[in-house]
Amino acid sequence: MIASPFPEYVGFSISTMDDVNGLAIHPDELRSLGKKAREKRRREFIMGRAASRNALMRAGCTDPPPVLRGAMGEPLWPEGYVGAISHTSVVAVSAVCPVILASGIGLDVEDMGEPVELPVFNLVCSDSELQWIHASRDECQLRFRMIFSAKEAAYKAFFPLVGAYIDFKDAELRRDDDTGIFHGTILKNISSRVHKGQTFTAESRLSGNVVLSHVLLPHAFRDGPVHLD
Ligand SMILES: CC(C)(COP(=O)(O)OP(=O)(O)OC[C@H]1O[C@@H](n2cnc3c(N)ncnc32)[C@H](O)[C@@H]1OP(=O)(O)O)[C@@H](O)C(=O)NCCC(=O)NCCS
Repeated sequence: MIASPFPEYVGFSISTMDDVNGLAIHPDELRSLGKKAREKRRREFIMGRAASRNALMRAGCTDPPPVLRGAMGEPLWPEGYVGAISHTSVVAVSAVCPVILASGIGLDVEDMGEPVELPVFNLVCSDSELQWIHASRDECQLRFRMIFSAKEAAYKAFFPLVGAYIDFKDAELRRDDDTGIFHGTILKNISSRVHKGQTFTAESRLSGNVVLSHVLLPHAFRDGPVHLD
């Protein structure tokens, strides 16, 4: 079972494929997925929407409206909330929080699955990230997934602030091995609110066979660039 990595004020929920046939989904949500989605994708989407509905209720949204999809695939949360969804083929997680408490939430789950080929590491990681990954021969697959997953969580957290694609190479992570926390830096100007040099933190951990990563951006980001260090 995956435990919430967030403070209590963040609503967190999990759905699994075992429950998928009994999970309710709003017809507008299914419509926003589109008719062309294959069965596997449809089931993952249903798991994610069920988790997001529960997470919204746990965050204080008593009668959640359907969570539709935006132009870039982002979930459209009800006014006053931020959140994130992630799924593997067997589990979906969602976290939601009132926007007065955080300006962005990122969440990502990655199945350890098959080993990732080394050329893919280069597409995702900076030189210093590769150094950290290869410093452990036994754990380099795990370390790669932690970086990959933490960056995807960061992308989801920043998206409501920037409304634009952020490439994997536009952010760099440095792991503090004492605390296990990734210290992230944005490497180029992304928007009026997120500039080159913007810092953030991300956490990533192995839970069973799944890497779970999360990012929680403080409310202060809403008003412009902030310095966290
Ligand atoms: C969008 C992306 C992060 C999704 O990650 P994934 O591992 O493929 O899939 P996950 O199951 O973890 O997440 C999928 C969910 O992400 C959410 N999502 C998709 N696009 C999003 C966006 N632009 N902003 C926020 N959330 C988004 C959706 O809720 C989606 O699920 P749904 O379609 O069922 O609603 C990934 O495909 C991607 O494009 N990554 C490249 C950008 C990036 O990560 N850059 C790092 C910069 S620091």
